[in-house]
Amino acid sequence: MNIRDSEIMAQSLSRYGYVEGMDLQDADLVILNTCSIRAKAEQKVMSLLGYLRKTKEKRPDMKICVAGCVAQQEGKTIIDRMPHVDLIIGTQNIYKIGEYLLDAEHGGNRVKTNMEDQYKIPAFLPDVPSEGADAADDNAPFQFSRFVTIMQGCNNYCTYCVVPYTRGREVSRRAQDIVDEVALLVRSGVKEITLLGQNVNSYARTNEVHCENSNYNFSSLLREVSAVKGLKRLRFTTSNPKDLTDELMSCFKDVDNLCPQFHLPVQSGSDAVLKAMNRKYSVEQYLGQVEKLREYCPSISISTDIIVGFPGETDEDFEGTMELLEKVQYHGSFSFKYSDRPGTRSSEFENKVDEEVKSKRLARFQARQDEIGLERNKEFIGQEKEILVETVSETSVKGRTNTNHIVHVNEPVDTKPGELLRVKINFAGQHSLKGELV
Ligand code: 5AD
Ligand code: SF4
Repeated sequence: MNIRDSEIMAQSLSRYGYVEGMDLQDADLVILNTCSIRAKAEQKVMSLLGYLRKTKEKRPDMKICVAGCVAQQEGKTIIDRMPHVDLIIGTQNIYKIGEYLLDAEHGGNRVKTNMEDQYKIPAFLPDVPSEGADAADDNAPFQFSRFVTIMQGCNNYCTYCVVPYTRGREVSRRAQDIVDEVALLVRSGVKEITLLGQNVNSYARTNEVHCENSNYNFSSLLREVSAVKGLKRLRFTTSNPKDLTDELMSCFKDVDNLCPQFHLPVQSGSDAVLKAMNRKYSVEQYLGQVEKLREYCPSISISTDIIVGFPGETDEDFEGTMELLEKVQYHGSFSFKYSDRPGTRSSEFENKVDEEVKSKRLARFQARQDEIGLERNKEFIGQEKEILVETVSETSVKGRTNTNHIVHVNEPVDTKPGELLRVKINFAGQHSLKGELV
């Protein structure tokens, strides 16, 4: 989500004469696009702002802007603590960043976090250079894989989560705008699209997105986007199991370019904890979904998010999470220690788990997941897979399978980024696979 938002700000600022740069020391404008999902991310922002204060003392013309969820939530507090910041721009205001920067320069308000902008998601067709035109530009390698935002905000209010407060209510983009954006990207050379939303399964639930058809939902959108001519690979993220329908799962059976990969965050393997998290599904329901997905698509790679040490999580609850891990055998997972976020319901819960206990649980979970992930990777050995090439050197190629596994081919290959290659997997490591050209 933040990567896509950064692209939107860069595209929007290009109309004001800005070009993206790589070197902080030369920049006329530095934007910190922030995340506040866990406390650690927020601490990083504050220390980077401290560092930038010194840079700005040497180059007072340099502008500093803070965007994203920390900006949305902390707004004025950041300016009070860090007066060298020129602009605070909220999650729904990024489309107008150029205008707001000019306004702040001319003495206007430096905090632009008005949530009312959220109902005005522009149709926003990105200015994408075409693959051919881009090849002449050494600075900007063409991106064959792109994100397309389909909705913003979230209405779920999981008790630990700051997103409904920082990104506002759920609003879906018009289906036609999304399809047009994908078609434009594909025409310019893009091969892979990832549809993005906090909870894509509830796409079109809160506002009308397709006038002709009131039953239009995420499965409808997925099918419509998949039919864009020339699109090789389609993915989406993120899903909430509570809204996962059979209709969507069945897309994995018959939508050819839909990649066999599903990120399905479970958060915990204990019903009591799921209830306290306000997740609205049970472990049994979740396992039923995993089974169904594998029935529809036996090669599907499933990954998840886990929080350990949620307030009130007992040893027994945590064992439930470990059991779930054994049952599902995830290809991969992202796991985190619970952290209190400002304004969330769980931050007020009293039965907090000890930091040391959280660390121990996390280490145990991750060690077992690493073993399982490696075992799952080894299942690829001997299989032929198609990879989408990302980088090519004189002696090697790196690409990704449709299951989103990185594959290294350590031999010279006559190919270029964006091409599809058939390889045979001959080695599996923890984080990547190796293969040879077929
Ligand atoms: N503490 C720890 N992890 C969190 N996540 C969201 N909020 C918190 C929190 N307060 C994790 C969830 C979510 C992922 C993006 O971040 O697992 O799925
Ligand atoms: Fe946060 Fe829950 Fe919404 Fe995901 S579904 S963004 S975890 S509130």
